[in-house]
Amino acid sequence: MELQGKRIVLGVTGGIAAYKAAELVRLFVKQGAEVQVAMTEAATRFVTPVTFQALSGKPVFTDQWDARMANNMAHIDLSRSADCILVAPATADFMARVAQGLADDLLTTLVLARDCPLLVAPAMNRQMWENPATRRNAAQLQADGVALLGPACGEQACGETGAGRMLEPEEILEELIAFLTPKRLAGKRVLMTAGPTFEAIDPVRGITNLSSGKMGYAVARAARQAGAEVTLISGPVSLPAPQGVARVDVRSALDMHQAVMTRVGQADIFIAVAAVADYRVANPAEQKLKKDEGGPPAIELVENPDILAEVASLPAGPFCVGFAAESRNLEQYAQAKRRKKNIPLIAGNLIQEGFGGEDNRLVLFDDNGVHPLAPAPKPVLARQLIKHIAAITTGKN
Ligand code: PMT
Repeated sequence: MELQGKRIVLGVTGGIAAYKAAELVRLFVKQGAEVQVAMTEAATRFVTPVTFQALSGKPVFTDQWDARMANNMAHIDLSRSADCILVAPATADFMARVAQGLADDLLTTLVLARDCPLLVAPAMNRQMWENPATRRNAAQLQADGVALLGPACGEQACGETGAGRMLEPEEILEELIAFLTPKRLAGKRVLMTAGPTFEAIDPVRGITNLSSGKMGYAVARAARQAGAEVTLISGPVSLPAPQGVARVDVRSALDMHQAVMTRVGQADIFIAVAAVADYRVANPAEQKLKKDEGGPPAIELVENPDILAEVASLPAGPFCVGFAAESRNLEQYAQAKRRKKNIPLIAGNLIQEGFGGEDNRLVLFDDNGVHPLAPAPKPVLARQLIKHIAAITTGKN
């Protein structure tokens, strides 16, 4: 429930993407938000207010003379306790009217009379988006502090291809959550590792582990939502990159080591969530090993570089956060790793609770002591970890 307690006014204007606004309402409500829909007259030609009323559970407003508001002040009252107004889809005409400060229907009046942030998700034909008038209006809106979400590039309803299509509802949801998250790590550059590593035995076989990347990816997403610029060095996983996060794919511990060391000079914070193989195969075979050629192969292992320990030992290195995955004696082993690698904060988890699944249980160990976090889905724990890191590194709670 990432929008629990949030109140969102969703403005819908008259474009074909209006049908996707219905899905947006469903996604927002599912995340715990209270959604008040206001539509332009043109939007009602594409989707009826009844659809939005059914999905939001609230009457939909379309008219500034709506007598349902006791004081006839819908344009003021609807946005008063809102956390934001989001207009999706926003047509070229709507953007032009808002850029000019016009207030000739309920939605533009609501926007002009707001005392909360405004976000717009443009949706229009590519020529309309590229038209100098629309470019001017978009620039004016941004100069006025309006957040533009998208537009995306791709196939359009008219059959043309280019920039102008509305972001998908899931992408808008992601942007909205990020927008409403306190910017505890604003201006910070976070470098991270996540997922397993894969150490080749031959071209098709290797040594790896069961890390799914879910914990690391959740931490990357939470850091980005908190305003950080995030680079995620990822071992082989099947997850999509979190929106707004720069992802660098690697395979082996040596690749991960190199990817981290070439970027660590630009990082303020380094968070090592990857389950890095401690050893690699000394001489991986160039050709596929054959079962009938000489019996079971003898595999010689050599130690991999300890990426976290190396970063922590840099003279003016970033603030380092490690993870410890243990099958027993969590506190004892995690504390020992924290001391050995000389890192200020380590998040301990038990492998039977942390590997692979959707949930986890973390215990944070730092200079101030031991901070157990309640068992929770990984995204929830990731946000708590980021809050903890921000409190230590910036003093912001
Ligand atoms: O990916 P999931 O399925 O969501 O699972 C999450 C997780 C259990 C993998 C994650 O929460 C976790 O605990 N990650 C660290 C796993 C681990 O192998 O820890 P470790 O105790 O071996 O290593 C200690 C720390 O040193 C870690 O921060 C690790 O990234 C780092 N390290 C270890 C070895 C090495 N060569 N280089 C390193 O940087």
